[in-house]
Amino acid sequence: MADNPTAGQTGLDVLWREEDYLYPSAKFIGQANLTDPAIFDRFSLDNIPEAFHEYAELLTWDKYWEKTIDTSDPPFWKWFVGGKLNASYNCIDRHLAKYANKTAIHFVAEPESEQIQHITYQELWVRVNEFAALLKSMGLKAGDRVTIHLPMVPELPISMLACARLGVIHSVVFGGFSGKAAGERAADSQSKLLISMDGYWRAGKLLDHKEKADIAYKESEAEGHKLDAVLVWQRYEDKYSSPTALVKGRDQVVNERLTEFKGKRVKPVSMPADAPLFLMYTSGTTGRPKGMQHSIGGYLAYVAGTSKFIQDIHPEDVYWCMADIGWITGHSYIVYGPLALAASSVMYEGAPTTPDAGRPWRIAEELGVTIFHTSPTAVRSLRKVGPDEPAKYEYHFKHMTTVGEPIEPEVWRWYYNVVGKREAVIVDTWWQTETGGFLCSTTPALHRMKPGSAGPAVAGIHPIIYDDDGNVVPMGSGRAGNICIQNPWPGLAQTIWGQPDRFVETYFARYCKDRKSTDWHDWPYMAGDAAMQAEDGYFRILGRIDDVINVAGHRLGTKEIESAALTVPEVAEAAVVPAKDEIKGVVPELYVALQPGLEASDALQKKIIDAVATELGPIAKPRHVWIVPDMPKTRSGKIMRRVLRSLSDKGDAGDVTTLANPEVVETIRKQVQS
Ligand code: WTA
Repeated sequence: MADNPTAGQTGLDVLWREEDYLYPSAKFIGQANLTDPAIFDRFSLDNIPEAFHEYAELLTWDKYWEKTIDTSDPPFWKWFVGGKLNASYNCIDRHLAKYANKTAIHFVAEPESEQIQHITYQELWVRVNEFAALLKSMGLKAGDRVTIHLPMVPELPISMLACARLGVIHSVVFGGFSGKAAGERAADSQSKLLISMDGYWRAGKLLDHKEKADIAYKESEAEGHKLDAVLVWQRYEDKYSSPTALVKGRDQVVNERLTEFKGKRVKPVSMPADAPLFLMYTSGTTGRPKGMQHSIGGYLAYVAGTSKFIQDIHPEDVYWCMADIGWITGHSYIVYGPLALAASSVMYEGAPTTPDAGRPWRIAEELGVTIFHTSPTAVRSLRKVGPDEPAKYEYHFKHMTTVGEPIEPEVWRWYYNVVGKREAVIVDTWWQTETGGFLCSTTPALHRMKPGSAGPAVAGIHPIIYDDDGNVVPMGSGRAGNICIQNPWPGLAQTIWGQPDRFVETYFARYCKDRKSTDWHDWPYMAGDAAMQAEDGYFRILGRIDDVINVAGHRLGTKEIESAALTVPEVAEAAVVPAKDEIKGVVPELYVALQPGLEASDALQKKIIDAVATELGPIAKPRHVWIVPDMPKTRSGKIMRRVLRSLSDKGDAGDVTTLANPEVVETIRKQVQS
């Protein structure tokens, strides 16, 4: 991958012809939050950082900030320094005067027989307070960390907001990740508690989730960190729904413990703006995931601002981001952004196509959803299994979002014509775990749409594209390079938890103009994506330049998958490559070479796949494990992943004459392409 960065891994080719434009409707523009193009002047490069006051002012501050940005310790920018606020207060308490009885969260369980829960702001406030009281009684205080490993149930945002209320830093691990992955992250963040659940519904099955908590606890212990306790929510109020037994003295059933805290209220702790709100682990180029640390004031201001202007959320909207809160998308655009704006946010527990491909559209009809947000993978799969389903339901979106991976123009058009019924605007939002919120997207009432392009930058974001030698690629030239952001913005992560040097090296070192400088102009942020900008100013994102695979919009580190394969003793070498996939964009394919003298077998293949699922979780499972006689290698012994990747994509291997063992390529080709 790194040997051929600008080719991208997405199947989108720079040579693609530019698409025709589409325009937002007058009806949409008439009601939009942002219709004044002057915002781009107000947020010009010259007006950074002060322009971001506009976002910070969407929040309620206990104490106004003294300094917009502190750059004294570059590139660890501190935003709104001196300011104080509480995120839980901003997402709940301050809405009570006007919206106490309005739904904050519509919870849709996967089984269609279960009634939808409409949790009002008042009820959310009560539940967050009571859970915060429980956490407080366990000695949790501002700055402590808690790992939350929960599925898509209301208890997840409730747990997050209860932590935020106390100034406790939450670290949510995607519910579909393995117990081992949760345990590693709990150890890395030195969490005091693990918050888990007995079970949840996914694709028609009530899964045992509690068994993962046991594994997580042990894994954390094995890494030298002992959790104080495991809190277990019950999926059903009055019964325990897991076959895995509770561990006496360690596990506490939250629903039972909460009876002691009925009616208890906890004052939101007034926190410094630059204190951390949460950690979100993401994959990088090494086996160790990075805990991206996001601040309270800067992050919340940025997600509130972008939710208002790019998502066009009004309190009257029923907003549905069909993603998982366990990823950054869900943090920013299911929980913090929408709730900061007093929206009604939909949470759906299950798989989009359970029991059939009409499910999302039935939910949209039932709840009167006006804004819909999901990933290209979900759009591709709904299109494949139910291309005519949306037309059968009476719903009307005004706005739709795509996020996480490039969307092919073909798929975009189905989203627009069939899902959006040609009534909804679409924004294609490019951003990252590190960036907290959107970087590139059309601003929906101001820009025309172009299928397959993420659009220009959003207000206050000033991209620049550098080539590998550090020269600026002229804007609008259509030439690919490494996309960077010239300026800091409040949503940018503060650091990598416990690895500040890695933060500097990964995101700033390459194009930093002067490492001693405390002027932010010298510190462009390198996103790690290849991109090009067309003449009209719209960016097309071409894919990662590092060893990260973007599967179904989720980031997986190739090193993490390879290390998982190497836990199988028979495996001598492992290499993961991204292979094109009709639904998921790309999927990992794994090549392994065995220890000398061992034979390939189906059982061994299965053992390797299972090892990946145990180490990381089912989403990281390779599509294929190819057990090969040897890896194609350079003379210096480096595995040539580029060669494997073209073989996986059914292409030819290209020039292999420089390899140490060119003959093995033909053997592998026959194996893979037959
Ligand atoms: C990719 C998800 C093309 C990109 C919010 C980025 C995209 C990585 C888009 C971040 C998009 C995200 N078009 N590619 N609209 N959005 N990406 O951290 O490669 O899970 O670097 O954040 O996804 O993935 P992450």
